[in-house]
Amino acid sequence: MKELQQLRPSGPAGELQETVRRFRPWFHNLHLPDGTETAPDHPLGDFPSYKWREISAALPENLSGWEALDIGCNAGFYCFELALRGARVTGIDMNPHYLAQARWAASQFGLADVVEFRQMQVYELARMNKVYDLVLFLGVFYHLRYPLPLLLCQIKGGGRMLLVIIFKEYLPGNDFQGNDFQVCQD
Ligand SMILES: C[S@@+](CC[C@H](N)C(=O)[O-])C[C@H]1O[C@@H](n2cnc3c(N)ncnc32)[C@H](O)[C@@H]1O
Repeated sequence: MKELQQLRPSGPAGELQETVRRFRPWFHNLHLPDGTETAPDHPLGDFPSYKWREISAALPENLSGWEALDIGCNAGFYCFELALRGARVTGIDMNPHYLAQARWAASQFGLADVVEFRQMQVYELARMNKVYDLVLFLGVFYHLRYPLPLLLCQIKGGGRMLLVIIFKEYLPGNDFQGNDFQVCQD
């Protein structure tokens, strides 16, 4: 499987960096194919790459044939990682700013054909008949007033959900104060 960093850049470097600036603020520090990072000064460090290293072992290396849903996908970091393992991925988020980042980044990584982004409230999922082999629900649970029904309805029989309720870095006392760009949207 490919690594995100091994993919080829598209477009001149100056133009790309200007686009990254225009899309600020970034919550995901994406490593673009030319080496540009979207949030190199992120208060959590190289987020969420280091988080992915911790949790990715919970998933098969080869996700060919899998359909995955990333709830609260933000700029699409996890969608891209799953796509590189062979999955077809749908990322949903209610924030159009993050989705614009995600769509642009998908084109930079050459993954626009296998990752689809939709602007949706998580509660709209309950009205869809679609089920998935894998559902990522990372760092979103604590934003929601009524999260529990969501945990029941989107996974195929035998499918998996990767659920992180809260990353310890977000907890009071962990010095993280720069999260004014991830306001709760219930
Ligand atoms: C803390 S970020 C986590 C992003 C990503 N899942 C991660 O772990 O890096 C929470 C994300 O959930 C989205 N979100 C929050 N409430 C939502 C809702 N009710 N419906 C859809 N997306 C929501 C936010 O816009 C944001 O992108």
